[in-house]
Amino acid sequence: MKTILSVVGARPNFMKVAPLYRALKAYSGSIDHRIVHTGQHYDRAMSKVFFEDLELPHPDFYLGIGSGSHAEQTAKIMVEFEKVLGAHPADMVIVVGDVNSTLACSLVSVKQGIPVAHVEAGLRSFDRAMPEEINRLLTDAVAQMLFVTEPSGVANLRREGVDEAKIHHVGNVMIDSLVHYRPKAEHSRVLESLEIRAGKFALVTLHRPSNVDDAGSLGRIVQALSKLAERLPVVFPVHPRTRKMIENFNLTKATSSAPRLTITEPFGYFDFLKLMMNAALVLTDSGGIQEETTFLGVPCLTLRDSTERPITVEIGTNTLCGSDVAVALRSASEILDGKARKGRIPELWDGKAGERIARSIAGALT
Ligand code: UD1
Repeated sequence: MKTILSVVGARPNFMKVAPLYRALKAYSGSIDHRIVHTGQHYDRAMSKVFFEDLELPHPDFYLGIGSGSHAEQTAKIMVEFEKVLGAHPADMVIVVGDVNSTLACSLVSVKQGIPVAHVEAGLRSFDRAMPEEINRLLTDAVAQMLFVTEPSGVANLRREGVDEAKIHHVGNVMIDSLVHYRPKAEHSRVLESLEIRAGKFALVTLHRPSNVDDAGSLGRIVQALSKLAERLPVVFPVHPRTRKMIENFNLTKATSSAPRLTITEPFGYFDFLKLMMNAALVLTDSGGIQEETTFLGVPCLTLRDSTERPITVEIGTNTLCGSDVAVALRSASEILDGKARKGRIPELWDGKAGERIARSIAGALT
């Protein structure tokens, strides 16, 4: 029997590990698959709700790390994860995405001689001011198996001199979750509870430090959202970081003065999917949402200068608007005037990436 530990830490990790969990069950005769939750995200709305919605089992190990500076968070995860590996030796560690938990657990594993499989490898924004870019580069440098979502990831890894045998273009596990849970999400009553109609509202998510940690930038964004809300209802589920900043910068009044701008707590997976599926447009700085909207064919305006997911712009429905929210507002008007670009679904985003990954891992281990 081989033991695999999969690491989750922050909200975007849960929907990536759920399909792997399902797919690895097919190998339960030869693989004992355990889940480690670092506790990087810990609020119920940022974590537990997703375990429930995605039918993930209670984590086998919970490290309870919580918030902190990057160094504190990364270091604490390393110390605690090393103890887990000491007590429960593993044959492989699976990490997903680009959060601090991804890098911390990769470093600990390779130093113990345990091979790391990185799911969502090879993505590059080429912006080293993003903590996630550092996490991606370093994780890929030490991982043994690199599972890639889109062709740019393969090209990036080749350019970095990665051995061809380590690179596996398998598609997108986050889309696996979307495909699997879409029918359930259809039943969500979130549109009714927000009193909005399908196709007649905009959905907003923002949490990048570059957008929300600066008073001027967040103030301009809030102003623009109020403006957009003159045209259609705007639903804005607020990430804890963003909520804190709205309070710190005294923007609470500005966010509550626009009648059709609805600020809410973060949604669970099904409600959020339902909102995304039915939005007229999505305005975001998230990585995953650029991909989910491309799959769903919903126009996405990304408030960033770069994206590590270029396929969403090349063939999908995503438009990079930079940090100037006026550009995003103009693009939003065009979309609402019926000029939205039609996109295509990237190759291998078919709901079966988890199965392909499980097959490769089982082949490598057994
Ligand atoms: C992290 C990831 C980012 C990912 C995002 C998704 C890193 C470097 N960043 O950013 O890539 O897109 O998660 O959400 O790993 N907080 C709470 N409750 C929680 C979680 C966080 O209150 O459950 C607060 C913390 O106190 C902290 C802030 O939110 O001040 C930021 O949390 P943190 O996990 O450090 O980074 P994110 O901005 O969420």
